[in-house]
Amino acid sequence: MKIVVTGAAGYIGVPVVARLLAAGHEVHGLDCLRFGGAGLLGSYLTGRFTLTRGDIRDRRAVAEVLPGADAVVHLAGIVGDPACAAEPALAEQVNLDAIGTVRELAADAGVARFVFASTCSVYGHCDEPADESSPLRPLSLYARSKADAEARLLTADSDRMAVTVLRFATVYGLAPRMRFDLVVNAFVAQALTTGRIQVFTPAAWRPLVHVADVADAITTVVQAPAVQVSGEVFNVGSADNRQLADVARQVASASGPGVQIDITPTSGDQRDYRISTGKLTAATGWTATRTLAGGITELADALSAGVLDGHPALEGRRAA
Ligand SMILES: NC(=O)c1ccc[n+]([C@@H]2O[C@H](COP(=O)([O-])OP(=O)(O)OC[C@H]3O[C@@H](n4cnc5c(N)ncnc54)[C@H](O)[C@@H]3O)[C@@H](O)[C@H]2O)c1
Repeated sequence: MKIVVTGAAGYIGVPVVARLLAAGHEVHGLDCLRFGGAGLLGSYLTGRFTLTRGDIRDRRAVAEVLPGADAVVHLAGIVGDPACAAEPALAEQVNLDAIGTVRELAADAGVARFVFASTCSVYGHCDEPADESSPLRPLSLYARSKADAEARLLTADSDRMAVTVLRFATVYGLAPRMRFDLVVNAFVAQALTTGRIQVFTPAAWRPLVHVADVADAITTVVQAPAVQVSGEVFNVGSADNRQLADVARQVASASGPGVQIDITPTSGDQRDYRISTGKLTAATGWTATRTLAGGITELADALSAGVLDGHPALEGRRAA
């Protein structure tokens, strides 16, 4: 297949591109390179990858990458509550307004499949594990923009293109475009730099999933028969629903002696949700295979070895 991946240079995008290439597909990335594109260098070596540097708000750039594509994996976005709060107008344009354009141009180009990256943040706050039919309670502009984008995508005419919405749990793990604003990655970075892990909402639950499992899930959905996934919403997570204090304890014990956990309860972030992931498994057979323990170890090993020295989140890293 020829697959267009928007947001190809991102934290999730780079592993997705690599996974799709490993499965034998041809991949055309579209990304404005907000965080650079060095993570994609290895993908060029396959001879089946190309990138267009462009903005998904630019119809011409989007139209240019679509001819001949069988599928679009739409990952581009302004990601996370702080990033959206910092640039709300941009977040609305990119996360919501551009979606209609990308979808319409893809359908016009004869693209058969469209996979959209949403987030389990749309559940906001719930007492029981949320499944795909649970009520949405988005608590931030980021989550609201994703919930609205989902609704727009799923209500548009579905005859011309099979649309699938994937709601990712909170992602963790090593990837070439590293993000340390994600809770597991942040805790490991804090443990190895300051020796203190800051926890603001210790009792809050988060569903967690390794970035490599997300890449596998996306690949599985793109390759699945359309009838199994068309018009559907799927949670993408693992068996790891954890309270944040529990995550901090696990990171502390894996990071060597002397790491402290500072619990400073605040009321800023009200998110508190768990998910169930059985629907995607039932539809496609996919399940997450990586463990939180393994993900923490690989992060700690790479950071301790200095592989990511120079990253701003790691300033002052303690000697191993
Ligand atoms: N990482 C997570 O924990 C997580 C969880 C749930 C959902 N998601 C979703 O997965 C997707 C990818 O997230 P990520 O963690 O890789 O984020 P990221 O910020 O690392 O990647 C986003 C990519 O989109 C690109 N981009 C941003 N605006 C663009 C524009 N206007 N035109 C073209 N490209 C643009 C950026 O340059 C970047 O490479 C996002 O849609 C996000 O909402 C991520």
